[in-house]
Amino acid sequence: MRIAIIGTGYVGLVAGTCFADSGNDVTCVDIDERKIRALQAGEVPLYEPGLEELIRKNVKERRLSFTLNLAEAVGPAQVVFIAVGTPEGESGDADLQYVLTAAEQIGRAMRQYTVVVDKSTVPVGTADKVREAISHVTKVEFDVVSNPEFLKEGAALEDFLKPDRVVIGTSSERARRIMGELYAPFVRTENPIFYMDTRSAELTKYAANAMLSTRISFMNDMAALCEKVGADVDFVRKALGADRRIGYPFLFPGVGYGGSCFPKDVKALVATGREHGLELDLLRAVERTNERQKKLLVNKALKHFGGSLAGRTFGVWGLSFKPKTDDMREAPSIEIIEGLLGKGAQVVAHDPVADRTARRYFGDRIRYASLPYEALEGVDALFIVTEWNEFRHPDFERMKSLMKSPIIFDGRNIYDPARMRELGFTYQGIGRP
Ligand code: UDX
Repeated sequence: MRIAIIGTGYVGLVAGTCFADSGNDVTCVDIDERKIRALQAGEVPLYEPGLEELIRKNVKERRLSFTLNLAEAVGPAQVVFIAVGTPEGESGDADLQYVLTAAEQIGRAMRQYTVVVDKSTVPVGTADKVREAISHVTKVEFDVVSNPEFLKEGAALEDFLKPDRVVIGTSSERARRIMGELYAPFVRTENPIFYMDTRSAELTKYAANAMLSTRISFMNDMAALCEKVGADVDFVRKALGADRRIGYPFLFPGVGYGGSCFPKDVKALVATGREHGLELDLLRAVERTNERQKKLLVNKALKHFGGSLAGRTFGVWGLSFKPKTDDMREAPSIEIIEGLLGKGAQVVAHDPVADRTARRYFGDRIRYASLPYEALEGVDALFIVTEWNEFRHPDFERMKSLMKSPIIFDGRNIYDPARMRELGFTYQGIGRP
């Protein structure tokens, strides 16, 4: 099939590459000239394991190309994906201007029956707005499909190539058949396609992210309670997860959820509720807990150091919102580092890949260490913010010898408290004695 993808962010780039890799002819479009030139030269503007190799392979085999010219890509395409950004609007709702502009431009460029697919995470009712925007400018036949993307950063290719499920929202039999064919290489009996109406498909995406965010905030609340009553949330987590109705994933307490999806989507869902006269109290509490959680480590440090952090130096391990990505959107590290700087402390930070991204947030206000141990020299304490694998088994004696005082505030519970005590560290995790 001939496919055009509008928007070369995470979702667009991964979807485009994977569709090309299953034999389709894919053109990715963006308005950002630098990005398109870079992609044409084989440079990938984001860090995602395996993506660069797969892009290069498909470009070389001439199934994947990049262009600034939307009309040229859309004209011959049978399926056009809208995968542009939906930033947070003024009242917490998703801002649809990029989606609707893309829709109109697609409408003007279409030459024969086209399936237009909303891949961006968009509020309920957007497919109808997209349909309207297109029909204003063309007489060519088309259908609009809602096909939300569930991929996780850091595991995006795996998630796309072997999805738990594919959600396709459409009332058109013709569009349904085409979408079914397109996804056939990626689905099996145990990971099926769910066909539904566009509104249910749009809501499914928000509901999934809101449910996962709720699990995380719930566990962060349990961790706070564990600290009060002297329990260990890690025991609680494991025993909870063993209940098959609950399951293990997304039960890790930590420094709060971040990333480009959870914070934005929970807010947008609350806004959608409000728009329809419904107050989603549970989700507002999920947000409140997450805000509190992002402040937790700095508050622990304040308490430990007697109310003042001025003049102290702290090491930070991990800047990205989670491992295996250089993405720092809504990363808890931002709130933590700003908190430390705001209290008059100095910060030296290390991240295996996000150092460059971090400069956009902190500039020269912090120091950047290219190796983990460099972020420990002479520090009053270490903050562990992202659970990168390389932090899990460090040389603790070496750490102790480098640090001014062996104190660790671990926002991801990656070490065993008893062992850390034995090794002579003052160690504070989340919800553990
Ligand atoms: C998420 C959804 O998982 C994905 O399906 C959707 O398409 C986009 O949003 P992503 O943002 O890449 O994906 O990250 P994810 O791995 O889900 O983690 C989100 C946040 O939750 C991270 O900040 C992570 O540290 C935090 N988290 C996750 C926890 O604090 N505890 C957990 O147990 C799991």
